[in-house]
Amino acid sequence: MSESPIDLSVVDNLLQEFADPETGRGLKTMGQVVDVAAQGNDLEVTIGLTTYSAPLWEHTRERLAEQLQAKLGGTGNVSVKVVEHDRPAEPIGGIGLTAKSVIAVGSGKGGVGKSTIAASLALGLKRVGAKVGLMDADVYGPSIPHLLGVNEQPTASPEKRLQPIDADGLKVMSMGFLVPAEEAVIWRGPMLHGAITQFLRDTDWGNLDYLIIDMPPGTGDIALTLSQLLPLTGAVVVCTPQDVALLDAVKAVAMFRKVNIPLLGIVENMSFFLCPDNGKRYDIFGSGGARQKAEAMDVPFLGEVPIQIPIRERGDAGDTAGNLADQESAPYLERICFSLAQNIANSKAADPPMPSLSVL
Ligand SMILES: Nc1ncnc2c1ncn2[C@@H]1O[C@H](COP(=O)(O)OP(=O)(O)O)[C@@H](O)[C@H]1O
Ligand SMILES: [Mg+2]
Repeated sequence: MSESPIDLSVVDNLLQEFADPETGRGLKTMGQVVDVAAQGNDLEVTIGLTTYSAPLWEHTRERLAEQLQAKLGGTGNVSVKVVEHDRPAEPIGGIGLTAKSVIAVGSGKGGVGKSTIAASLALGLKRVGAKVGLMDADVYGPSIPHLLGVNEQPTASPEKRLQPIDADGLKVMSMGFLVPAEEAVIWRGPMLHGAITQFLRDTDWGNLDYLIIDMPPGTGDIALTLSQLLPLTGAVVVCTPQDVALLDAVKAVAMFRKVNIPLLGIVENMSFFLCPDNGKRYDIFGSGGARQKAEAMDVPFLGEVPIQIPIRERGDAGDTAGNLADQESAPYLERICFSLAQNIANSKAADPPMPSLSVL
């Protein structure tokens, strides 16, 4: 190794500076440099990243390799390997939930594909290796069990803790398991508040990277309740490109802002139709509206999802996970997961958290 012409202090400096996507702090400072091996002109760096950053592993690996290559110049090969770095989540808020990020998925109205997108986000984050929970808080129309093909009832431990359903590694809870739909429709704010609080407090979520919450459409009640129970990382608003739906999205954004929940982004669902017969794109409801609206409202645009017959069919068949394995739909959904993780990472890099005091 000593024969290598590579200046390891240059490598070291870069690894000091290069930000861990989870904390925004330098990889070296955070003990995430596993190995640096120089042989001749070639360099191999192994870094540890957390499962929380799983959607960003590939991107981070490429970026670090590029920066190392640029700093070192030369003709050698630079390769970066990623291994898992263990960093368990800490309790968030005061209700016994242990998660790194809690993300509410909302919309101004029903039927825009909010639950489909919430489930796809959860499944997409889980698929790349993050630890994910999905909570269906839509008391008025709980559809997550249906979309995921989950029909077991959760059981309670002897300590009266509800065990979420394990859907292929995704932890799932639905208000629909606990509250008959015909009862919930007549509920008012305080009852919902109580139910949601209990629901979050009494569920054994374990150690989560992400908890995705499928919110009921429109109402600010549950958003307010959630914002009082825990520091939400933020909200994702789902809309369709029609003008009326965009107006509803504007209302949803205003609602989240009113209760001080940061906006993580807007997803435009049912954006366009790619005709399977001729491959032509049809902008059934117009196009680009949500992206422009997002910009005007200063909310990040996370991406678009086309209308695809298999998405609807898989929803009905309880196989929403299948959308992430289908090359026609997966890239759109993966893009949204990536943008979401990256937006969260960027906001952390801009504002690195202080070391946690919760150990005291
Ligand atoms: N991109 C899409 N392409 C085709 N069908 C979709 C798409 N997104 C959602 N759907 C279908 O639209 C219906 C409503 O979606 P859902 O996610 O339940 O909406 P919401 O939660 O907003 O009421 C479901 O039948 C679902 O399968
Ligand atoms: Mg729904």
